[in-house]
Amino acid sequence: MTDYGADLLWVLILASLGFSAFAVFFSISRQRRGHPPAVTHPAGEDVAAEAARKVMREFEKNGQSVDAALVTWSPETLRKILADDLPDAQVIVVSNREPYIHNSKDDGIELLVPASGLVSALEPITRACAGTWIAYGGGTADRFTVDENDRVQVPPGNPSYMLRRVWLTEEEHQGYYLGFANEGLWPLCHIAFTRPIFRASDWEAYEAVNRKFADTVVAEARNERPIVLVQDYHFALLPRMVRERLPEAIVITFWHIPWPNSEVYSICPWRERILEGLLGSSIIGFHTQFHANNFTETVDRFLESRIERADAAISYGGQTTLVHAYPISIEWPAELLAKLPEVEASRASLRARFGLKADVKLCVGVERLDYTKGILDRFQALEELFIKHPEWVGKLVVLQIAAPSRGTLPAYKQLHDECHRYAEELNQRYGSEGYRPVVMVAEHHSQEQVYEIYRAADICMVTSLHDGMNLVAKEFVAARDDEQGVLLLSTFAGASRELLEALIVNPYDPAMMSEALLQALTMTPEEQRQRMRPMREMVRNNNVYRWAGSMLLDAARLRKRGDVDRATGTADRPPGIDNVVSMFERKRVAMS
Ligand code: F6P
Repeated sequence: MTDYGADLLWVLILASLGFSAFAVFFSISRQRRGHPPAVTHPAGEDVAAEAARKVMREFEKNGQSVDAALVTWSPETLRKILADDLPDAQVIVVSNREPYIHNSKDDGIELLVPASGLVSALEPITRACAGTWIAYGGGTADRFTVDENDRVQVPPGNPSYMLRRVWLTEEEHQGYYLGFANEGLWPLCHIAFTRPIFRASDWEAYEAVNRKFADTVVAEARNERPIVLVQDYHFALLPRMVRERLPEAIVITFWHIPWPNSEVYSICPWRERILEGLLGSSIIGFHTQFHANNFTETVDRFLESRIERADAAISYGGQTTLVHAYPISIEWPAELLAKLPEVEASRASLRARFGLKADVKLCVGVERLDYTKGILDRFQALEELFIKHPEWVGKLVVLQIAAPSRGTLPAYKQLHDECHRYAEELNQRYGSEGYRPVVMVAEHHSQEQVYEIYRAADICMVTSLHDGMNLVAKEFVAARDDEQGVLLLSTFAGASRELLEALIVNPYDPAMMSEALLQALTMTPEEQRQRMRPMREMVRNNNVYRWAGSMLLDAARLRKRGDVDRATGTADRPPGIDNVVSMFERKRVAMS
């Protein structure tokens, strides 16, 4: 290239960066001045998709992510991005938990949608992308509902994607899921002071099951270049296994739970192996920047790697992985709410169902019965309130929905017993004829039933001792189209970084939680509205399509970069300063 050519190239690059910066600044300041984000309407889906593409063009010009919040994200936006910017990309989701479980009943087969934040987030995405979802077939009738290739079209009645079930032996399930994932990694990653248990036999099962799922991904891939969305701590080894066999695949791993600091992580006997497995991913996502930072620090401590903090990138073994925060969210439930009774009717029917007086305040907790959720701590806060403010005895009921979970493990059995015992004690101590302050319902509830409970509540308590995000908090505010209700939210849940108007509490401090309860009980409707409104706006704008869309945009960027690097013979160049050369090469190729 001549000197003149190089100068011209620099001018073009600087001009394009300058223009991008101006465009982003203009858009953000427009939003700050109160302009709503781009509007999507039936005839205007293209407008939203075009806006998404524009974001992507800005993103490409800058070589880094721009604020994708400027787009209104919808299923259509995702479909357009896939069609236009990731053509022919097959989306494959891998998770342990399946989105639809078929169970045998006396009178036939029952369909169950599990109580899982992962499922409620991924389901609409897979529907929108018409993808393939690979998961463990754990239902007692799962084998009777698949075809000869272990596949079943879902959702039932309105199929839009394919569920491919993987079968596990009793020993595999015990070792990989109950053992290594839930007695090892789960307590390791959550600060809940439950000791992790690591057994060599569980590790072997974990490795074997990861291999089995990786084989299934390869078998289901229609070509060499799928986008594989790997979900959670059940599959730390799978990303590398897939990349070794499908080097052109984009593997996006999302870790739905917290990542501990490196000292805590060092407890794990297979710590290096897990990191190496995860670094087979093209992108690793966490809910918060804090956990993304913990991960990077952990890699820094245990692997010989190259870390470019400014680029949020780690190079290991000749491959680069981006480490980003993508806060997960929910699908805005407009359609669901349209089917539900009005708030007043929900209040009345729930009070009738549980025999509560009309003037009793209702505080709800909705979760799997898990020791990370702070259920006992919330009962303790209730007791503190009754001790300090006895005028509330008889006027407040805590309804605890606790979906059964991992019930064969000792730590969960113990929690189950302790929760029921404490609830019983509180009912004996503070209950009276026709009044039980704690109602525990240890049953699975459908999404509609859960939303009805949210709508009937005066207060929702999310008091996790530690939580990646916690989607119950987001569902509660989404359910309240009357802009009423108070959210008590643990500072140790990722959601507290986004739902800033909640009453933020420390679940380890029962005195503080009881004060927050009192504040919630006595809050004026106007203050409730003032707090609820911005939280609803936050969840509506930052919906689950944005979560997935941001990752797909990053995937598109990586794919394009990979294609250019392959074409110019510069594949596997590390990020950072050396990348300037690669940027030149990309522009040169683009201009030629
Ligand atoms: O919170 C982590 C997580 O894997 C979620 O993603 C999921 O909602 C939940 O645990 C479900 O747990 P399980 O599938 O073990 O019942």
